[in-house]
Amino acid sequence: MCGIVGYVGPKSAITYLLEGLFRLEYRGYDSAGVAIQQSEAIAIRKKTGRVNQLATLCQEQPIAGTFGIGHTRWATHGEPSDVNSHPHTGGNGEVVLVHNGVIENYGSLRNQLRELGYIFRTGTDTEVVAHLVAFHLAEEVKMGADPTETQTCVKAVEAALRRLKGTYGLAVLFRDVPGTLIAARLGSPLVVGIGKGEHFLASDASPLVGYTEEVVYLSDHELAVLTSDSLQLLHRDGGMQTPSVKVLEQSTQDLDLGEYDHYMLKEIFEQPTTVENALRGRLDDDEATAKFGGLNMDAQTLRRIDRIVLTACGTSWHAGLVGEYLLEEFARIPVEVEYASELRYRNPPLSDRTMIFAITQSGETADTLAAMRECKRKGHPTLAICNVVGSTIAREADGGIYLHAGSEVGVASTKAFTAQVTVLTLLALFMGRMRHLSYPAGKRIISHLRAMPDKLRKTLQCHQQVQEIAQKYYGAENFLYLGRLYNFPVALEGALKLKEISYIHAEGYPAAEMKHGPIALVDEDTPSVFVVPKCNIYPKVISNMEEIKARRGPVIAVACEGDDRVADLADDVIYVPEVDEYLQPLVTAVPLQLLAYHVALLRGCNVDRPRNLAKSVTVE
Ligand code: G6P
Repeated sequence: MCGIVGYVGPKSAITYLLEGLFRLEYRGYDSAGVAIQQSEAIAIRKKTGRVNQLATLCQEQPIAGTFGIGHTRWATHGEPSDVNSHPHTGGNGEVVLVHNGVIENYGSLRNQLRELGYIFRTGTDTEVVAHLVAFHLAEEVKMGADPTETQTCVKAVEAALRRLKGTYGLAVLFRDVPGTLIAARLGSPLVVGIGKGEHFLASDASPLVGYTEEVVYLSDHELAVLTSDSLQLLHRDGGMQTPSVKVLEQSTQDLDLGEYDHYMLKEIFEQPTTVENALRGRLDDDEATAKFGGLNMDAQTLRRIDRIVLTACGTSWHAGLVGEYLLEEFARIPVEVEYASELRYRNPPLSDRTMIFAITQSGETADTLAAMRECKRKGHPTLAICNVVGSTIAREADGGIYLHAGSEVGVASTKAFTAQVTVLTLLALFMGRMRHLSYPAGKRIISHLRAMPDKLRKTLQCHQQVQEIAQKYYGAENFLYLGRLYNFPVALEGALKLKEISYIHAEGYPAAEMKHGPIALVDEDTPSVFVVPKCNIYPKVISNMEEIKARRGPVIAVACEGDDRVADLADDVIYVPEVDEYLQPLVTAVPLQLLAYHVALLRGCNVDRPRNLAKSVTVE
């Protein structure tokens, strides 16, 4: 939520700032703004709306200078408006900053600062931080410090941070210390890019791609002082830190739309490759199992595991549900899938044989991170299934498995789901082969997994047909998504995709459970999407479909190629290749992603930047 960028160097700052904000726009797009240091003051341009509106403003009112910060906002405190847009100013303009996070004690701090004469002009929690830094700067100066010294500014920021409760990623400019940018983090990610005679700052690595390959990820309670040619890291407890420089693995290709109109469509079509990448180097034919480089647990400990808790949010939680079925089936280990936002405040009994996996595309979701930390605090081995290399969750986990899905830019997750399900299948195979799963069964799973990229390529051939179906139903105001067993999580995911990007009310349910409530919604205007490939209880799902048809509800079915039974019953059928039951989510999710995409397009919605949502939810 909210994206931050910063630049100090010899070049015009606005180029990087705007490009960086474009790349971070998925983190929030209620408003955007930049501040650039000029000779006597810090100039600010900010505006409600998208980054391109800010870019237009910056063309109309050019803003020169080589040191600057920028922000794209997902509103938490204060409505989206020009005045609430970041950057915010502290004191009389001597401090200008941008913030990602939530300041929980902003109310009491604001009262204290008001009594001291500070004037508040916005409804944000961030303005409190700006005035607080200005206040401490003034205090330092009163004690004789030089306001043009970097050290004075560092002390002022440190003093302000000590008084904040909540989370922050901050980038601060000081009017009287040109060329110095101070960044600090607690709970909201920040990464510094090291260039030649220049430094970059960003909320994640995507803005840095193409600018530098050397990055330093800030940790909680770290403060960075950036100038063109120096980077100083300070920790709240330990003084000066030596920056640990990592090499960035992303490429600009990841961020290119190529032949596609939207990132979501591009990412849907990348899924065959996503599966290939998630499998690469992880299939062990000799042992008929999977292998992972980073679990950091020895075989003996892994064999002792008698319970697995998967925790996640959103689409990642749906992937976790598929994982539950896979792990229980192959490894016979009891699994629970917990919403991270619940787990973080619950206190379930967890033994030392419980393994915890946080599943997350971004590696920055605040609830998932907090749930993982809570489990870690209690001494449990806590691992991550994560896409973004170097993200907070990836770094804090005891071990884990990367998705290698490349950047996912569309706010509605698609290829990350596919990668997560692939990795969870590998994990189930791995844990299963340590227990009851036979060698031939392991071999069969491996060969079926190898076939999946081609099965997905074939699945994608339904694109045109899905587009036509979308045309027929895009006016509906309610949709039901129904599936059973492995396809129940797919139904949930299909409904979520539609809700997220088309704003149509959609509910996912186990197909049989719809009799206990949702069936009351069924009428001629409420389509039901049945995910009904051949499975053990296929006839039961057909009966559920009959129940909907008997109430004149339109039925769209996702079924296996050549399924005439479904064709007779459903109004529209989308065919997917036949695969083993446990692999079905990988193919059945695809038409539902495409359906949501085309319905949203037909309704004139912004598929890559749906209203009110953000790709990475870094606030509670
Ligand atoms: C947000 C995104 C979803 C995503 C969820 C969890 O809600 O819009 O697409 O599934 O966060 O994100 P994570 O990065 O932890 O997988």
